[in-house]
Amino acid sequence: MPASTNGIFFPDGFLWGVATSAYQIEGAWNEDGKGESIWDRFSHAAGNIKNGDTGDVACDHYHRYKEDVALMKELGVQTYRFSVSWSRVLPKGKGVVNKTGLNFYKSLVDELLRSGIEPWVCLYHYDLPQALQDEGGWANLNIIRYFADYAELMGRELGDKVRRWVILNEPKFCAFFAPGTKNPELYLKVSHNLQLAQGKAVQTLRDVNRNFQIGTIIDLSAVHPISDAEKDRKAADNFDEWGNRWYIDPLFKGAYPPLARKMGLKPDQQDLDLIKQPLNFLGVNYYSRFLATHDPSDPVTEVRRVEKRTPTTATGWEIYPDGLYEVLMRLHKGYGNPTLYVTENGVAFEDNVTKEGSVQDDDRIVFLRDHLISVYRAIKGGVKVKGYSVWSFIDNFEWFDGYSPRFGLVHTDYQTQKRTPKKSYYWYKQVIANNGFAF
Ligand code: FCB
Repeated sequence: MPASTNGIFFPDGFLWGVATSAYQIEGAWNEDGKGESIWDRFSHAAGNIKNGDTGDVACDHYHRYKEDVALMKELGVQTYRFSVSWSRVLPKGKGVVNKTGLNFYKSLVDELLRSGIEPWVCLYHYDLPQALQDEGGWANLNIIRYFADYAELMGRELGDKVRRWVILNEPKFCAFFAPGTKNPELYLKVSHNLQLAQGKAVQTLRDVNRNFQIGTIIDLSAVHPISDAEKDRKAADNFDEWGNRWYIDPLFKGAYPPLARKMGLKPDQQDLDLIKQPLNFLGVNYYSRFLATHDPSDPVTEVRRVEKRTPTTATGWEIYPDGLYEVLMRLHKGYGNPTLYVTENGVAFEDNVTKEGSVQDDDRIVFLRDHLISVYRAIKGGVKVKGYSVWSFIDNFEWFDGYSPRFGLVHTDYQTQKRTPKKSYYWYKQVIANNGFAF
């Protein structure tokens, strides 16, 4: 990896990718036998999503996946992470398999492989089958078995072609995004059960095929106190325990941080052993930092986020590339130097298509470049970062914010479904081709 004053280049074999998730791009919410998911139900209820948006059509990727894969091929990515909509393959979450739904993913995998792109299959990106939610969702311990059965089904059906598996995308947000988790007690249960289910699914997939490369994805923030005051530092520690360590400590150290016990979570040893499964890799999603101040109105964590005014993104998130270096170094030093991939990093800005039909998103290019410099510094510091993926390949449905934030390298016109690669797409294409970039 030659470094010079005028460029940085990544190690040979570094994997460049893009990512999406099922609910955010597929659409076809009730086609070909797909069952309802909690996000279908949630977005259909008035008032939940900005502008009343839903993922009913989204990017219509279910019908346009060939066009999308062709754009990925042109981009030159080596990997593409997508998620499977559980209720598309198991409309009720368990029991009868929807063959047409399964075939969609088989066709997608074939199309990717034909295009020289390695599929990374994520089993869960927030969209629980509604039928399982009706049984209590992640709060019901039976979910561990249902999830393992679903993982086994996917492993058996796609495992002859798919080597790389991601169990969960961001368990913290899986817990938040499941209806009802505003209730703190339910949150404890749900966040713990998610991690149990994750452990069981790892074991299950290993039993399907010992050669699978299995990992999971955790979103990590840099967390800093707003001042040096003891109270602010304590607030930052609390948030760090709640937002970061809650998920990395059980996975790598077999224990929850102290705050969990304080909040009433007292798992037995068997549970902790199940969560602490050896993984082939950890995926890290990084977007911003959390600036913490002491606020007693939250009696447990006593923390409040302080919004930083500049510079921010269209979603109001502070731009803080050093934080990516910080979280990668932290995993390296404090968590046994695991193999890591940056599985999501990206940004929403106000992207507009010009009269000439292009999107000049220079600010996104700067954002990605600065974060890649952090990745590079981490590699130089000894961290085993083996790849990087942009969120997202294409503008898509951004959960509570609907279609307003645009995170894609490719612009989506939601009226016509026309795809327009942005300037950042062409920039990223060069980065991939050169395995780095010149300054
Ligand atoms: C991540 C999610 C992804 C998307 C980006 C902006 O936390 O994994 O689905 O919403 O944020």
